Amino acid sequence: MNWEQIRNDFPVVKNATYFQSAGMSPLPNQVLDVVIKAFTKLNQFGDIYFIEDLIETENLRGILASMLNTSADNINILPNNSLAMSLLALSFKDSGAMPFNVVSMMDEFPSNTVPFEYKKIKMKYVEAENSRYPVENIMAQIDENTLAVVTSYVQYCTGFRQNLQKLGKELKERNILFVVNATQGFPLFPVDVKNCNIDVMTCSIHKWGFSGHTGTIFYTSPEFRKRFAAPIAGWLSVDVKNDFIHTGKNIPFSLHNSAKKYYTGTYNLQTLIGLKTAIEYLNNIGFKNICLRLIELGDYLIAKLKAAQITIVSPVDNVDERSAIVSINMEPCENTKALAYLESKNIFAANRNGMIRIAFNIFNNFGDIDKLIGALIEFKKSNYTERS
Ligand SMILES: Cc1ncc(COP(=O)(O)O)c(C=O)c1O
Repeated sequence: MNWEQIRNDFPVVKNATYFQSAGMSPLPNQVLDVVIKAFTKLNQFGDIYFIEDLIETENLRGILASMLNTSADNINILPNNSLAMSLLALSFKDSGAMPFNVVSMMDEFPSNTVPFEYKKIKMKYVEAENSRYPVENIMAQIDENTLAVVTSYVQYCTGFRQNLQKLGKELKERNILFVVNATQGFPLFPVDVKNCNIDVMTCSIHKWGFSGHTGTIFYTSPEFRKRFAAPIAGWLSVDVKNDFIHTGKNIPFSLHNSAKKYYTGTYNLQTLIGLKTAIEYLNNIGFKNICLRLIELGDYLIAKLKAAQITIVSPVDNVDERSAIVSINMEPCENTKALAYLESKNIFAANRNGMIRIAFNIFNNFGDIDKLIGALIEFKKSNYTERS
């Protein structure tokens, strides 16, 4: 693979040493071109090509479905993960399954938990063990009232990557719903919803989807949709047999059987067209190659951090639990000061839960990591000098 050529597709590398992809990945030039074309079409032709654009985004559902090992009927796109989880919270409440609880992880990003807490659903949180969530510890929290387990595939603070297959198998045996937020993993780290017995999967695409704030992928299994009615509906949810728009009033209607029932209303076709291009772009590189590259960059980063005696908070001993996120602690120096120092050197990482989160991507190279480590060592030295 010519990774330096791929690096050229990302102008961000000329402007900054960028380790903020877990906040949002920048667009490669190819995606930007397509999004500009899509908006130019809107500028020049208005709504004339609406149906054409709609068909293109329909194709996207098929592409995403085959990546997840399911059918397009089970996929739709929602504005964000918070809304997806809110739909679940409402569905659970409406189902009359009371009393029930939902098991989740203590470190979850709040879009996985606030929607349930807001609806007064009893939440049981698993404590992290050295930043890991062993499947056994999750299963130990489950009781006879547990309706669902909600977990991230990759934890946003530490990058811990859950063993979805193992957890899914255990939950299936106990007949507990398995809800996965794959935002910090997919599409760079694959997910097989069938193989992992996932009932619902979400993925906010702005993190690793290379197409900006596009929305969240929302997968629901046919069994889930049969068991839980959609708690809200809009005009696009209605299964209109002979027309495009359900115009009747006080006339019975039914919703789509497919995941289309969750669409409710119109959505941003232009950025979804960008997402389709981004997926094609990544597919051309090859998802296997991408995984290998991220592991290679991770190996290099971890080795350099260890050599510099910088504390790694992320669990990095097992490669299957690693992702494209490694978090560190500069103690006894202050992490916020370290981040400001990095920024003064035009190096961008993030503060998450008081840690420094380093998120590397396919456009990063070993030189970027050397720059980061060099600056952290400099900071450590200057900070010690300041203190003494
Ligand atoms: C794991 C995870 N899920 C979801 C989100 C975003 O949630 P939403 O799509 O509701 O903005 C983030 C970060 O912003 C995240 O790290």
